[in-house]
Amino acid sequence: MASGTVSREAFGSRAGFILAAAGSAVGLGNMWRFSYQASEGGGAAFVLLYVVMTLLLGIPIMLAEFGLGRRAQLTPIGALRKLAGHRWARVGYVFIIGCGLILSYYSVIAGWTVRYAIESIVRGFPGDAGAHFAKVSSGSGAVAFHLGFMAVTLAIVMAGVKSGIERVSLVLMPALFFIVIGLAVWAATLPGAEAGYSVYLKPSLAQLKDPSVWRAAAAQAFFSLSLGMGAMLTFASYLSRRQDMPASATIVAFTDFGVAFVSGLVVFPVIYSLGLQGAVSDSTVGALFIALPGAFESMGAVGRVVGLFFFIALAVGAVTSAIALLEVVTASVIDEFGIGRRKAAAGTALVVAALGIMPATDLDLLGLADKIAGELLLVIGVLLISLLAGWVLPAEMRDELAAGASPFWQRQVPRIVAVLRWFVPPVILVVLYFSLRGTIAAIAAFAGGAG
Ligand code: TRP
Repeated sequence: MASGTVSREAFGSRAGFILAAAGSAVGLGNMWRFSYQASEGGGAAFVLLYVVMTLLLGIPIMLAEFGLGRRAQLTPIGALRKLAGHRWARVGYVFIIGCGLILSYYSVIAGWTVRYAIESIVRGFPGDAGAHFAKVSSGSGAVAFHLGFMAVTLAIVMAGVKSGIERVSLVLMPALFFIVIGLAVWAATLPGAEAGYSVYLKPSLAQLKDPSVWRAAAAQAFFSLSLGMGAMLTFASYLSRRQDMPASATIVAFTDFGVAFVSGLVVFPVIYSLGLQGAVSDSTVGALFIALPGAFESMGAVGRVVGLFFFIALAVGAVTSAIALLEVVTASVIDEFGIGRRKAAAGTALVVAALGIMPATDLDLLGLADKIAGELLLVIGVLLISLLAGWVLPAEMRDELAAGASPFWQRQVPRIVAVLRWFVPPVILVVLYFSLRGTIAAIAAFAGGAG
């Protein structure tokens, strides 16, 4: 390619790319964030809107990122500069900052999952789940697990795209699928599981009309698919023009949705069969980490085994997402400053690890960071990507998305670009309006709580 790089890294196989992209998408967002968002948004109403958002907005936006990344063969800043000029390059910086910000608190939550998994082996789940979570989510323990998790993430990213990220994803992602499906089958055997299913699967009309549920569903779809932060763009920059991107994006989106949906089939029956629904809808970020350990504890030995697997699955999902987040920033540092991978990764990880110490010791701050990055930055990022693909570079997008695609998908490409031009931006503007209001309210609440 004309990018000037001597030997750009690349994925070794199509399955490797798809699993790495799916690994980035499938993470804490699918199990932790999805469950608490779904219970806040009234269960089934949220789930239904989330599917709609994934299909109508998620897949086209993912394709926009794929198209931009593969066309430029560069990371976000360089890619946007090359394709659309210096003004757009600034958007790339926003992406990089967003990824760093998400990783800083994401790693903290991942640290909790690792701690719960270890504790389930060495001493089981504690009697008072709420008090235990308060301990896990504060103090030096939380910092230590956060730093430990960052170290593992760093080790994988240092190893590179093919021998680090691709290799780890090829093993861990299938393992995660098996665990989550196994857990869902087990959850179906619980007495009283039906109550959970009915909340999760039967939408109420009143909630379907609530704009805040719409906004939350859209933001969750973007977060869960890792969109709006240049992550999919970066991964696609390691692709050749022979790959069928529309087919890959569809597989990634369905995989991501599938894991979130099946996780809900675990979480809701467990919570409702034990009458713990209050614990989930009361608090937000901590919900799952209080309700589920409480449930596992009350199940004795079975709960310890099930809990162990549950938290292993969460930790696995978190690792493959965290490596993607770190990769985006690292690869950008490599591209922009011409530093070697190992140094770039270590420096980036150090900054992010330091940044994460604050949310590790302050749960409210963590919740706020998740609102700002996950609901605001992401939505802005997604809007800019759709404008870039649909309005600035529609011809390039049509060409790029068709390259390597099967005849069926080649016929869809003009439609996809039209969706990016006419449908996605107005819808996201509406979402953004509500996101702004929600984020401002959250900042005010945080300032009020802190002051
Ligand atoms: N999709 C990830 C999850 O569901 C979280 C995430 C959001 C992410 N944006 C990202 C991961 C960018 C990698 C890159 O847990």
